[in-house]
Amino acid sequence: MSNDKVKLKIDGVQIEASPGQTIIEAARDAGIYIPYLCWHPILKPYGACRMCVVQASNVPGLPASCHTAVADGQEVITSSPAIEEVRRDILALTLSEHPHGCLTCWRVEHCGPTDVCLRNVTVTDRCVVCPQNERCELQDVTYYIKLNEVPLPYKYRGLPLETRNPFIDHDMNLCIVCGKCVRACDELEGASAIAFEHRGERTIVASSLGGTLAESGCTFCGLCVDVCPVGAIVEKDNKWAGGADSMVTTTCSHCSIGCTLNLNVKKGKVVRSTFDVDGVTSHGQECARGKFGYKWIHSKDRLTTPWLKEGDQWRESSWEEATDAVARKLAGYRPEEIFLLASPKNTNEDNYVLQKLGRAALGTSNIDYVDRSCPPEALEGLEQAFGSSAATNRIWDVRDSRAVLVIDSDLTFEHPVGGLQVKEAVRRGAQLIVLDPRDTELGLQASERLVCKPGTEVAVLGGMMRVILDEGLHDQEFIRQRCELLEELESSLGQLSPQAVEGISGVSAAQITQAARLLAAHGPASILFGAGLHSQGSDLSAAVADLAMLTGNVGRPGAGVFPMRGENNSQGATDMGCTPGGLPGGATITSAGSWLPFRQAWGDKLPSQPGIGYRDMLLGVKEGRIKAMVLIGENQVLPDPQGELAEALSRLDYLVVHETFSGTLGDHADVLLPATSFAEREGSYTNLERRVQMVRPAIGPQGESRPAWQFLSEVARKMGASGFDYTAPSEIMDEIARLAPSYAGISYTRLEMGGIQWPCTGDDHAGSAMLHDPQFLRGRGRFLPVSWSPSEVGQDLMALANVSREIKGVLELGFENRVEISSADAQRIGIADGDKVSLTTAMGSIPATARVNGRASEGTVLVAMPQSVMITGMFQGSSPGVLAALAQARSYPVRIEKA
Ligand code: FES
Repeated sequence: MSNDKVKLKIDGVQIEASPGQTIIEAARDAGIYIPYLCWHPILKPYGACRMCVVQASNVPGLPASCHTAVADGQEVITSSPAIEEVRRDILALTLSEHPHGCLTCWRVEHCGPTDVCLRNVTVTDRCVVCPQNERCELQDVTYYIKLNEVPLPYKYRGLPLETRNPFIDHDMNLCIVCGKCVRACDELEGASAIAFEHRGERTIVASSLGGTLAESGCTFCGLCVDVCPVGAIVEKDNKWAGGADSMVTTTCSHCSIGCTLNLNVKKGKVVRSTFDVDGVTSHGQECARGKFGYKWIHSKDRLTTPWLKEGDQWRESSWEEATDAVARKLAGYRPEEIFLLASPKNTNEDNYVLQKLGRAALGTSNIDYVDRSCPPEALEGLEQAFGSSAATNRIWDVRDSRAVLVIDSDLTFEHPVGGLQVKEAVRRGAQLIVLDPRDTELGLQASERLVCKPGTEVAVLGGMMRVILDEGLHDQEFIRQRCELLEELESSLGQLSPQAVEGISGVSAAQITQAARLLAAHGPASILFGAGLHSQGSDLSAAVADLAMLTGNVGRPGAGVFPMRGENNSQGATDMGCTPGGLPGGATITSAGSWLPFRQAWGDKLPSQPGIGYRDMLLGVKEGRIKAMVLIGENQVLPDPQGELAEALSRLDYLVVHETFSGTLGDHADVLLPATSFAEREGSYTNLERRVQMVRPAIGPQGESRPAWQFLSEVARKMGASGFDYTAPSEIMDEIARLAPSYAGISYTRLEMGGIQWPCTGDDHAGSAMLHDPQFLRGRGRFLPVSWSPSEVGQDLMALANVSREIKGVLELGFENRVEISSADAQRIGIADGDKVSLTTAMGSIPATARVNGRASEGTVLVAMPQSVMITGMFQGSSPGVLAALAQARSYPVRIEKA
């Protein structure tokens, strides 16, 4: 036994606990149940309900086990006549305000929702008609305590139901005022959208501003729903589904944080998504998309059977016929005429087999994927500087940073659980610096909010580095020991004095100076950035790497660099070699040392030169060099604000689409194949912190849908390729582990016990929570010159997607298209506050109301995006309109005219 464990006995059972744990936590870990109502493993102890009282040898009286720490040699008794008496008396008080006709009735198991109560026909508020029936903690506690009678009279509160909110319904007649929802909203989400209302016996939970949740700033993360022990706060959808038949723990498919979810299944249908307190990335935290964004799985519009196009006509086909047709047709193209579009939404196994099909069977390395907020090519600067473009640390550890710099990332919307770690760091006293042309929620909490013109972020970072060097604030010891070529960085900063950068970016020299001083003085510091707001090539990631090295914030807990990849498996798509020059596990085609093992494994067709990427493909199709494409995806929305992709697809000779929905891609496809969703298949994702996690099937495939690896393997076999005889995705992971040293110790057997962060170099290697410690993956960290050039956008106004913060969850509440514009631009165009305008892009025009309110910086307009629309993914399957294009691309040129 290790020395840092505490030994105690609970009900005579010897257990070990960690120092600082409470008795109820230690009991839970040991599988011993102590009743509770106000305690929750992810919340601070509250000590209000007293259901958890115990006897502890070192504490007088009956202490609350949720508030009492374990101690060495402690003996705990969880049940005795004295304990039961206290619990019964207090529970009776609680039940005097909660309908309890069923709770204390011995016949409850015989009753159904349509039965009339035979004990008392006036009893209508019954467990059997409560949405929380069978998953109610009050039921559990009452049955455990064996309370058969409530001596006090029950008083119905007579409160109206609140059903105006999207996603969530309230029935505060059922509330037991345990406060878990209020505490979760405040302690974890930091939204304080719900609060206690009134005092004394009238105390109840309500929205904090008295109206709807939306009006009180609710983010609809759903935490209040999941912590509510009774039926007072419940999901609106599938409200009456009752307890689940099964619950499958899996990984969320929305963003790159990779939260752990429990999909609740009833009669073959996912009816609910609940958070998992043991999830190693999210630790029980969640967001609106993970909680409510799963309904598309059961959409009637899902592709459920293969389709083949003959002339202009579509007809259904079998998989046999479809894969025959694809294999035959692809065999007719030269390798350089084929392009493979991988998917950051799909599993590692799908993407691995796609690139292997290209390289080993078709002989092409024309492969890429699209990440709308942080494309792989934007991270080349980070790769060159550190030897890896992946995040250096665990996202959870951001809460330990003393300073956090967030660049071009509306974190609390795009990666909400990542945003929660930043908020927690701020709560703990960290300095927050936000550099973004948009108005973001984190900007409101920042010590320094740097609102720059889009495309000038690199110049601002250069200005900050100039201040740090000029004032001698850089970490000289770190640089001397671990880095090289500082002089290249220094010489590139000559033109970037804070005063010069003020003229370029619109951020004042004083703010640039102050931000630089804050970052340099408060280590460890984390830098989180999205690279897709405006085209800056890989210069932004290079500047971020420089700044991190300059301040010594690499290879240190609570520090590091985090590219905020847009999709759930963007990191995995890179890891699997789905880039023109990449190979699985970070190997490259241009390095003979890493290329040769793949050549030996896959054969002679493997190209020795990189292929072309996504942007070159668009041009290649236009010029007739690319003729055929295979595209895989899972409810993937490809950004196409200028219509270039649609045009390229329409010109292709042959397009194979494997997707969950036909969407707009289907208009151009020759073969449409139904894909399984994340809820229907087994596989793995790699999140932004390099953690490989299991995706598990909760339900069967919809219709005849199949995972991409299965159909791609069949096509490869039909083309005569060997090495595609997989019968399960675990075999694909085993092959990845054999070929990619950073995945060498990863297998499904190990992943079943929890995610593993690569590099994981063998079966006995635990994985790597932090990169570049004690040295960079490339040896010494390489400073790169700051490369800044004026925006390519020229005179166009840039429209920036800006999640609507005043009216969240608004589609149901009435949404107004609103365009915020700077006073300088408004004056130039001749627009006044409140004018009706038209907003025109390459995708068309929409009417909107202009707001001249000082939030948009010159050269930009902020277009309010309804959050609920983005959560529910309503754009899927519809023609991309102006708002849809903006939501997908986050920024693009726009014209505004008075209507
Ligand atoms: Fe301990 Fe409520 S669970 S007092």
